[in-house]
Amino acid sequence: MKNIRKFLKQFTYPPAAKPVATKQAEWVSAAGKKIPVFVNEYWTAKQRQANALHEVSYRACFKPQLPAFFIENFTQPGELVLDPFSGRGTTALQAALSGRRVAANDVNPLSRMLCEPRLSPPDLALLKKRLDSIPMQQQLKPEMDLSMFFEKKTLAEILSIRAYLQQRLQNRAFDSIDAWIRMVATNRLTGHSPGFFSVYTLPPNQAASPARQKKINADKQQQPPYRNTRDIILRKSRQLIKNLNEQEVHHLQQAAVHSCFLTGDAAHLKGIKDNTVALTVTSPPFLDVVQYAADNWMRCWFNHIDAAQIEAGITMAKTLPDWNRKMTAVIAEIYRVTQSGGLLAFEVGEVRGGKIKLEEPVVEIGLSVGFQCEAIMINQQVFTKTSNIWNVSNNDKGTNSNRIVIFKKK
Ligand SMILES: C[S@@+](CC[C@H](N)C(=O)[O-])C[C@H]1O[C@@H](n2cnc3c(N)ncnc32)[C@H](O)[C@@H]1O
Repeated sequence: MKNIRKFLKQFTYPPAAKPVATKQAEWVSAAGKKIPVFVNEYWTAKQRQANALHEVSYRACFKPQLPAFFIENFTQPGELVLDPFSGRGTTALQAALSGRRVAANDVNPLSRMLCEPRLSPPDLALLKKRLDSIPMQQQLKPEMDLSMFFEKKTLAEILSIRAYLQQRLQNRAFDSIDAWIRMVATNRLTGHSPGFFSVYTLPPNQAASPARQKKINADKQQQPPYRNTRDIILRKSRQLIKNLNEQEVHHLQQAAVHSCFLTGDAAHLKGIKDNTVALTVTSPPFLDVVQYAADNWMRCWFNHIDAAQIEAGITMAKTLPDWNRKMTAVIAEIYRVTQSGGLLAFEVGEVRGGKIKLEEPVVEIGLSVGFQCEAIMINQQVFTKTSNIWNVSNNDKGTNSNRIVIFKKK
């Protein structure tokens, strides 16, 4: 195992034309433990293209380069990689593409629906055949008015696909091609281009309410146009698999067989054995910043999921002490499943305009449950204006920097 501190300190991304030296500071925990803080451009989307298979939108997802950095530098093929707040499954998918075994959990059932099918991409000819076999049922009616989003025939197609998937589940005939169709259709429901089923609306990781959509339509003087849902599903499928190579396909097949997908609270990872995980890369909900349930209402409707139930399970801590309590339970659970020498990379955002630095309580929590804290690592794309290394200025809304606490189990 690499010496993490040395590695982070000496790191320069190989293709960088002008490597930038790592900046270093120190933070002292309540018990007097000195924790190094490393700041550098550890990965950028420009330097390293992510696989197109990741391109499924989800609120507050991280870039694949983040888990890729830890997976490639700190695990071996065949080892188990976990994300207990999996979201769209960025960590799980990246681990699978790299030949690692995967375990993923999220309280939102959409998470598994969006990730698991991508471990088993279908043959496009078979996919087309399946789509063509779905009967179009003009008589179906939605439980609510969705006419502000979808043209009449488009809506009939969406309802037909939805009914078909439900029937396949009820008949226990649901297979990996159905799961793929469900994943792509869920992703294509609403968005801001003709590549989505809806008229122009918010980006696909959010969902406007019907009232808000009516206002968007009035402001833009628009009416939902017809969209060919089968063509859109096929086109998106082609895009998703466009740069998979043979080795990655093989890795995905292997990962699919051994994967563990859980839907539940991150503090109870039942089904994951003690001392088995080599690396966890995760990003929890940051206080009450993101409204996951409201952002997912349309996707929940399509999949017959009760959005209110998701809302109840999602950690929406309003205060820091509440958040700390929850994260203590979660990090203790991650400690249980981590193998000796295994790592946890815990990514937190800058919340409330940078006034709350969640990495500080996270260090204390990790230490309290038995982890050793290796470092606080800040991946920062632009840090020229920074005078004080600890208060690294964050770019607009925290999109360009990641603050990650790295722990190791002795
Ligand atoms: C910041 S997002 C993670 C995004 C993920 N890294 C990705 O790339 O898509 C946090 C996730 O935590 C989930 N979540 C919130 N509270 C949870 C809990 N108590 N247990 C498990 N998952 C939870 C949310 O549903 C959301 O998917």
